[in-house]
Amino acid sequence: MVKIAPSILSADFGNLAAEIKKVEQAGADLIHVDVMDGHFVPNITIGPLVVRAVRKATKLPLDVHLMIENPDKYIPVFAKALLRPPSADFGGQAGADIITVQVEASKDLERDIVLIKASGAKPGVVVNPATPIEIVFPVLNKVAMVLIMSVNPGFAGQKFMPEVLEKVSKLKAEISQRKAAVEIEIDGGINIETAPEAIKAGADILVAGSAVFGAKDYQAIIKRLRG
Ligand code: DX5
Ligand code: ZN
Repeated sequence: MVKIAPSILSADFGNLAAEIKKVEQAGADLIHVDVMDGHFVPNITIGPLVVRAVRKATKLPLDVHLMIENPDKYIPVFAKALLRPPSADFGGQAGADIITVQVEASKDLERDIVLIKASGAKPGVVVNPATPIEIVFPVLNKVAMVLIMSVNPGFAGQKFMPEVLEKVSKLKAEISQRKAAVEIEIDGGINIETAPEAIKAGADILVAGSAVFGAKDYQAIIKRLRG
């Protein structure tokens, strides 16, 4: 069964802990946390302080999507929800369970993957709509997840780009051929119309922000998104 990862970007931030508990009770599988720095993308969103609060609010895995320049500088910060610069031993408390870095922002994907693992989280890589999927093939045996963006990152509530579905199928075929243990996540514009297409193309995890938090009944929408 496909997993659903509500993106808290569209949650009511004045009641964040309650919103997270509500989606957890409604059957969400992961909590998707969109970190934006105002450089890699035009928007500024969430820092480690919020990750720390989200961690306390749920037992679900935290799927932290880094849309930032210099991700290597911040991987330990988000893995451990550090409020100070990282120390050499990555001390700190629990933060992200999964960290994904954008291939367009990473200076060395292999090194970032090693750093994510050393920080205690599962590594993933993200490709923007205009980035060819083949770019992740050399690291496929080293990651737990590949995230395919179905909008240009920066904002919630954008329109799904169906042209990325071809990348989902291509990646699915490559993963099966290698028998790799990699999940495919898709992010941006997922709703009850687009979810079936993403599932058909081979997505294992659907991120949904406005579709979930904009719905009246979180349990009903999560069930409908699963198909
Ligand atoms: C886009 C973010 C997404 C976004 C999803 O930059 O990475 O996670 O918040 O929001 P919806 O589901 O509203 O497109
Ligand atoms: Zn995201």
